[in-house]
Amino acid sequence: MTDLELVAAAIEAREHSYSPYSHFAVGAALLCSDGAVYRGCNMENAAYSPGICAERTAIYKAAFDGQRDFAAIAIVGGPAGRPISELCAPCGVCRQVMREFCDPVSFRIILAQSPDACEVHTLEELLPLSFGPNNLGN
Ligand code: THU
Repeated sequence: MTDLELVAAAIEAREHSYSPYSHFAVGAALLCSDGAVYRGCNMENAAYSPGICAERTAIYKAAFDGQRDFAAIAIVGGPAGRPISELCAPCGVCRQVMREFCDPVSFRIILAQSPDACEVHTLEELLPLSFGPNNLGN
């Protein structure tokens, strides 16, 4: 699976976004080390706080299936119903959830505007000096 293909999967996932309150549609595609891809989108709620980001939807779907080893995630987002025109970086909560399951040094976070316009960061770059399972002896 190339970065380009992973971004294409995130763009497709964004089509499933349920975002009637923010009108900001986000899609994510998570690549597992065994090659499996899990897609997610943001899911909002009338009570607001139960809403969940695209990244966590994808990560928890994968974790439910027993996946624990992740290589990369592609993220796309922007105003719903319009082409993506800027990069969408993951929120702090999603970065922390990535930290639970992903190696900060090797896990790649691909922020994309289109399959051929993207930038790549490691989790360590986006969440420096992090707190993770190792801090609790896990
Ligand atoms: N959102 C995501 O799904 N991922 C991000 O990385 C940033 C924000 C969602 C949450 C909410 O449904 C909407 O975008 C506006 O914040």
